[in-house]
Amino acid sequence: MDVSRVCVVGFGVMGTGIVQICAQAGYETTVVARREESLREGMEKVKFGLRKMAEKGKIQDAEAALKRIHTTTNLEEGAKDADIVVEAVYEDVSAKREVFERLDAICKKDAILGSNTSTISIATLASFTSRPENVIGVHFMNPPPLMPAVEIVKSLKTSEETVQRTVQFVRSLGKEAVIVNDFPGFVTSRMMVLMLNEAVKIYENGVASVEDIDKVIKLSFGWPMGPFQLLDLIGIDIVANALQAIYNETGWERFKPAVTMMQYARLGWKGRKTGRGFYKYEGKK
Ligand SMILES: NC(=O)c1ccc[n+]([C@@H]2O[C@H](COP(=O)([O-])OP(=O)(O)OC[C@H]3O[C@@H](n4cnc5c(N)ncnc54)[C@H](O)[C@@H]3O)[C@@H](O)[C@H]2O)c1
Repeated sequence: MDVSRVCVVGFGVMGTGIVQICAQAGYETTVVARREESLREGMEKVKFGLRKMAEKGKIQDAEAALKRIHTTTNLEEGAKDADIVVEAVYEDVSAKREVFERLDAICKKDAILGSNTSTISIATLASFTSRPENVIGVHFMNPPPLMPAVEIVKSLKTSEETVQRTVQFVRSLGKEAVIVNDFPGFVTSRMMVLMLNEAVKIYENGVASVEDIDKVIKLSFGWPMGPFQLLDLIGIDIVANALQAIYNETGWERFKPAVTMMQYARLGWKGRKTGRGFYKYEGKK
C-alpha cells in the first residue's frame, strides 16, 4: 500500500521541518498540535521555509505546498486517515506513551506508526501499541529541510514491510534512508552526544577554554560550528537528557553527563533558547 496521507504529531523544531518537506514532496499532510497558538506559530515557520525554498528555486510552488497542509488540535481527526504518522513530540517517554496509545486506538490497521525520537528505544514505543510490527523510528536530522539523511530504526518486531514502506516514503522526500537497529542513541545521537560530552570534560579538565576548543575543532575537523556552539544550539538540557537516557539503558559510564553540563542545565543556562549557555546571547532573556 502506498503512502499518500501523512500525519505529523507535534509542531516544534522538528515537526515544522518535517511538515514542510512532506508538503513540498506532494503529500497531503495533517499536523496535530495541542494548542491553536502552536499551530499558528508553526505555520508561520513552515510558510517562511517554503517561500525560502521557492526563492532558491528548490521547489516550484510554495503556495500549492501550503494548500496541502491541514492543521488540527484533535489527534483523532488528524491521524484517522493517515498512511504514516510521524510523532515529533517532546523527548519524554510518558508524552510519547500517551500519543502511541491513542494512535493505536485511532489509526488504520496498516498505518505506519513512526517516531522521530533521538534516543528512546523503538521497542519501548512499540510496547505501547498492539501492533509492534508497524512501529518504526524515522529519525530526521535538524533542520529536516536541509539535512539529507534519515535514520530508519527497526525494532526486533518491526516488520520488513513496514521498513520497506518507510524507506520508500523517506526517499520520496528526497532523503537518503539508512536502516539501523534499535539500540540506545542509534548511530547519530550516540556519536554526537558522546563527542559533546567529551568536549565539556576537556573543558572541565582545564585543557583549553570553550572558545579555543570550538576554534581548534572547527578548523581541524571542518565542522561548521564548534562543540560548545552546537551544545548551545541544540540545548544543553536536551543533550544532557539524551546522555542520561543512553546511560540509563546501557550503564556505560562514558555516557554519564559531564558535571558542568548538568549544572548548566539545572541553573537554566540551557543555550541560545535561554540567552545563556556556554556563550551569552545578547538581547535574549
Ligand atoms: N531538535 C533536534 O535537534 C532534534 C533532532 C532529531 C530528533 N529530535 C527529536 O524530535 C522530537 C521532537 O523534538 P523537537 O526538538 O521538535 O521538540 P520541541 O520541544 O521543539 O517540540 C515538541 C512539540 O511537541 C508538542 N507536543 C507535546 N505533546 C504533544 C501532544 N500530545 N500532541 C501534540 N503535540 C505535542 C509540544 O507542544 C512541542 O511543540 C523529539 O523526540 C526529539 O528527540 C530532535
